[in-house]
Amino acid sequence: MLYSVVLVAVFLCGLYLAVTFLFPRRKRSTTIPGPNPATKECGNKEDIAKAGSLHEYLIDLHKQYGDITAFWLGQEFVVSICSPELFKQHSAVFDRPVSLFKLFEPLIGEKSIQYANKEDGKNRRKQYNTVFNQNYLHHYYARIQEESDDLVKQWSGLPKEEHVPVARYMVAFALKLGLVNLFDSHAFTDEEILEIRHNYDIAWSELERQLVDIPEKGSPRIKAFEDAKRKLYALVDKVLSNRKQLRKDTDDALLIDVLLDSTDDKELIANDALSFVIGGFHTTGNMLTWAVYFLAEHQDVQDKVYREISQVLGNNDVEPETSKDLVYLYQVIDETLRCSVLAPWAARYQDFDSELGGHKIPKNTPVIHALGVSLQNEKYFPQPHRFDPDRFSPENSKSRPSYAFQPFGFAGKRICPGYKFAYVEAIIGLVTILRKFKVKMVEGQTVTQTFGLVTHPTEEIWITLQER
Ligand code: HEM
Repeated sequence: MLYSVVLVAVFLCGLYLAVTFLFPRRKRSTTIPGPNPATKECGNKEDIAKAGSLHEYLIDLHKQYGDITAFWLGQEFVVSICSPELFKQHSAVFDRPVSLFKLFEPLIGEKSIQYANKEDGKNRRKQYNTVFNQNYLHHYYARIQEESDDLVKQWSGLPKEEHVPVARYMVAFALKLGLVNLFDSHAFTDEEILEIRHNYDIAWSELERQLVDIPEKGSPRIKAFEDAKRKLYALVDKVLSNRKQLRKDTDDALLIDVLLDSTDDKELIANDALSFVIGGFHTTGNMLTWAVYFLAEHQDVQDKVYREISQVLGNNDVEPETSKDLVYLYQVIDETLRCSVLAPWAARYQDFDSELGGHKIPKNTPVIHALGVSLQNEKYFPQPHRFDPDRFSPENSKSRPSYAFQPFGFAGKRICPGYKFAYVEAIIGLVTILRKFKVKMVEGQTVTQTFGLVTHPTEEIWITLQER
């Protein structure tokens, strides 16, 4: 008898040990609702892949579990929040978890502002913000106007009824605006700008591919990535050293000057220079692409914007004093940011145990700010998939909590540093295009979104231009 009791006890102990060894601890040691990890190694990665992207997975999770949920990214326990109330509770947190953005480190470098936390991150942001604050923005108007006029001139030279690829033009336009305004207008030839775009495309698409498909060490893919990266950094180095020489002749303080003055660490300067180039053009290029798409799809909105431009500006260029009067155009841009879900999520962590929405958050747990889930919340944006700029009329905006619409992030004064600059680019670019052309969709296209770190159209969007 004793023998069988011991045998059963040993068997049960063995079973317990086997189960705890083979399967991860159920996460329900936390009170935060959410799925269990599918496997110990991959957590919920397969579920994310099945959903199509992290943003689409977060939409499903929040629908199922509410405003706060948690899941496993590989072996890492990750929390996600999506309501204005929870955003507000997290609004003072500055530090960003490195692990969620590690994928891009081989390109932007470990010293990038993207990974800078604590006092170092805060000090660097304070310095960089000087060239993006409201009082500084007027520096950019003339150069943005010049580049916008160039684009429109180029388009005017196209044959009538030509099918124009919007994303190709808009991303190149945004890249040029960033380089010219932040890094010195004379630093780049057109060929160099094309080369940056080309090498960036190779490097970025390789990193995105690595989400699902890791290449062998030394494989042609890795070689192509390393080659593209080397060329990008060589160009950045050239621009930085040219600026050092040129600087004597100019009082203009650009982002490049702030970077050069802030430290002697060459690697850090190069990492941040590239982070700003990439952070700026990929987002703004896609924002402009989506804006042109929505305007082409909604001719009534386009007509209303055109009438506003004529009334507010007459034949004058946009100036810092007049841009704020383009109220409806700002609404169109905000509705574009909302409908396109341009930057679907941000993230933070704290290095101490904390509380959020009544739940305990263990120290160092990444907390995702599901910005895109909030932008599509029916409670604040009824019929969320409908493009309707009137949602952002001053009266309608007042009736919503401001944390419901945070397309540039919100926490710890670490909102996107370039967001005001992005609005100026969009306002001047769109005014210049719409004054000259009526934009129309080429018929027969089905436009869909691909959600990554930035949301872009899955296929190119084609329009035609009708001169006004
Ligand atoms: C429509 C355009 C843009 C969108 C939607 C966007 C969105 C964002 C978001 C959501 C973040 C993360 C904020 C957070 O962690 O809370 C971010 C960070 C950042 N953005 Fe933007 N961005 C845009 C344009 C730009 C532009 C034009 C620049 C450069 C001129 C830029 C440079 C950066 C940089 C450097 C960071 C990292 C800042 C840090 O680590 O503190 N972005 N952006």
